[in-house]
Amino acid sequence: MTNRRTFLQTAAGAVLASACQPTTQRDQSAQAPGQVPLIISTWNHGLAANAEAWAVLQKGGSLLDAVEAGVRISEADPKVDSVGYGGLPDRDGRVTLDACLMTGDGRCGSVAALEHILHPISVARQVMEKTPHAMLVGEGALRFALANGFAKQNLLTPEAEATWREWLKTAQYAPRPNAENHDTIGLLAVAASGQLAGACTTSGLAYKMHGRVGDSPIIGAGLYVDNEVGAATATGLGEAIIRVVGSHAVVEAMRAGHSPQAACRLVAERLLKKNPNSPNLQVGFLAVDKDGRHGAIGLQKGFTYALHTSAGNQLFDAEPLLP
Ligand code: GLY
Repeated sequence: MTNRRTFLQTAAGAVLASACQPTTQRDQSAQAPGQVPLIISTWNHGLAANAEAWAVLQKGGSLLDAVEAGVRISEADPKVDSVGYGGLPDRDGRVTLDACLMTGDGRCGSVAALEHILHPISVARQVMEKTPHAMLVGEGALRFALANGFAKQNLLTPEAEATWREWLKTAQYAPRPNAENHDTIGLLAVAASGQLAGACTTSGLAYKMHGRVGDSPIIGAGLYVDNEVGAATATGLGEAIIRVVGSHAVVEAMRAGHSPQAACRLVAERLLKKNPNSPNLQVGFLAVDKDGRHGAIGLQKGFTYALHTSAGNQLFDAEPLLP
């Protein structure tokens, strides 16, 4: 199963050895004015996603192409057990995927509870581009994907199946902060023009009830993008993020004049207040404004994020809200 630290060393370490030691977010944001273009994404596996998204931009690809290509790296990586192929299944042993993307002009597409498709983010893009809808779920999303050329495949790897079978022995579920099983990738991009796009994709909470949908495919909860202001994405316990419509709340706080860091903190504090009796709750927010300033907060220590600018691709520890 994925160990985020070893993944960092194997996948991204080859790209950027200097990126292997997270530095503190406060150091970074204190020194860094806005930088564009910029790619930012959640967790250690964000490094490899950033590198791909950056390469697409360098080749003249669109922002949408970049964010989609970036998160497809995590979706296809069997070692990332919280996204796509290799993701831990629900309690019935079924891998069900949630994903969305959005551009700063308000276009968006989303799929939820989608099974058997390697790249839910690409199905979400087709929902946006080929239908009059914003979101398809479950059987309807699968039918749409198959009708649009996506292949059906088994996403449950032997490793994920073995972990699930072990879990079945007790079938106890309790959220844990930064568990290796719960690391959604949310990726935001700011172009040199100040335009924005984002993508978010996950296999959701391990051993969830079949049919459970988290924040990640819900526009406004797991992701929100507005060219007039900036963008935000979330990771962590989806139910808590949905209750505060987290990503939208962060963007609206920036619209009201808060910096990306202050906006993330404000919404994290609001979320914490609504969950006073959840000592292990972990949620992380990332935000960027259209000038390329960024913010990052985790409720607990341990939330890392990857930042790619013209200076390179590097991993940082987000500021924890709790001591
Ligand atoms: N943040 C992902 C989920 O709760 O499903």
